[in-house]
Amino acid sequence: MNISVAIDGPAAAGKSTVAKKVAKILGYTYIDTGAMYRAYTWYCLTNGIDCQNEQASVAVVDRVKIQLLPNDIVLCNGIDVTKPIREPFVSANVSYIASYKDIRLALVEQQREMAKSTSVIMDGRDIGTYVLPNADVKIFQIASPETRAVRRYEENLQKGIECTLEEIEADVRKRDYIDSHRDFAPLKPAADSVLLDTSFLSVDEVVDAVIDIINRKLKEKQ
Ligand code: CDP
Repeated sequence: MNISVAIDGPAAAGKSTVAKKVAKILGYTYIDTGAMYRAYTWYCLTNGIDCQNEQASVAVVDRVKIQLLPNDIVLCNGIDVTKPIREPFVSANVSYIASYKDIRLALVEQQREMAKSTSVIMDGRDIGTYVLPNADVKIFQIASPETRAVRRYEENLQKGIECTLEEIEADVRKRDYIDSHRDFAPLKPAADSVLLDTSFLSVDEVVDAVIDIINRKLKEKQ
């Protein structure tokens, strides 16, 4: 039987770090839906499309082909965009792109397809509420904005992405605002999700907590 686990939550809450580790331990496929919105944004920015212009951004939907490959590799129309999609110029624009319904519909279709044939752990903003409403396990992972900003800042430093802590905190807060106020599939906890506050937990502690939640939920379902 294929299991689906949805992890949603605000920006830089550590969802992908944890989801990747849990996927490895449990043998599930990890699907980073945020990388898809980032790749679409990268396409617009590198093709002179104004991400705040919905019509122009949506007009290219059939031209943007995104592939998630093993080892976190992301391709956009065959180009390896794994690194550039994490850069601040993409982060600053991705929430506009993610607010357009026609773009979401196209990417969600792909996400649902990927979850069909294998056990998955998928992270994003609307996985438990919209993409996989029947997911076996739904987790809403949070941490304070300050904690999240520090985490993303340190992650960026490690990856060699230039930024300041102030810029990151402003970006995180701005994205959370846009993501939770959009009309279509906004960021919000699913009614049947488990809230997991990671503000004072290490990565390994969050991984253990997520595995405990998964085991408990799957047992309840038996
Ligand atoms: O890793 P981080 O928390 O910074 O964000 P991400 O998961 O890479 O997602 C980047 C952006 O994509 C978010 O701020 C949302 O605007 C959008 N997103 C979304 O709308 N729905 C999803 N399922 C995943 C991401």
